[in-house]
Amino acid sequence: MPPANLSALMAQVTESILLSILKNAWYAAAFSDEVIDKPLSRTLIERKVALFRGEDGKVGMILDRCPHRFAPLSAGRQDGDTLECPYHGLRFNRAGECVYNPHSKTKGPLRAADIPSWPVMERYGIIWFWPGDPQQADESSLPSIDFLDKPEEYALVKGRLHVRGHYELVVDNLLDLAMPLSSTLSSAAVPTRPRRYWPLPASAWNGAQGRS
Ligand code: FES
Repeated sequence: MPPANLSALMAQVTESILLSILKNAWYAAAFSDEVIDKPLSRTLIERKVALFRGEDGKVGMILDRCPHRFAPLSAGRQDGDTLECPYHGLRFNRAGECVYNPHSKTKGPLRAADIPSWPVMERYGIIWFWPGDPQQADESSLPSIDFLDKPEEYALVKGRLHVRGHYELVVDNLLDLAMPLSSTLSSAAVPTRPRRYWPLPASAWNGAQGRS
């Protein structure tokens, strides 16, 4: 039996390894069409973040709080490839660098005002962000879900559901494949065709295989 302080240390190391595994992955931040010509505020990994799209079409994700007087940057405007604070006009690029200070003589950067940013990429109509070590943000590690890019083969229904509960309960619910069949596919949300049912033979309930 390891001494108590060794147990605590092992628990800490295990937690930090688990956190590192969980954080070093791509997570959905928003649908691409939610970030077009206006910044979007969202709470992700317990931080308020601002997503915005530069003139070159690329998306950035930075902390949604100006370091000067804490104004929400998502209430500002996109200018070129930067996001401008709505209060006193500091501008931040996608790396979170304060690249423009309208109150200085040179209007140059104010690097003391840099703020956190996160790697993002867009694929399958979704903006993905990487909450872990930016050096490990490998775009090729996103699993393929390319059916999302095949509108001619698959109809895409999308939306968001704000759940006031622990996320693990949602994961548990989504992994229960009987749920979508009974509650979603049979709901009025898919009324496009007459529903068809295949009655099970009585033998199905006795453990027999197959349908008639
Ligand atoms: S609060 Fe953002 S520039 Fe002052």
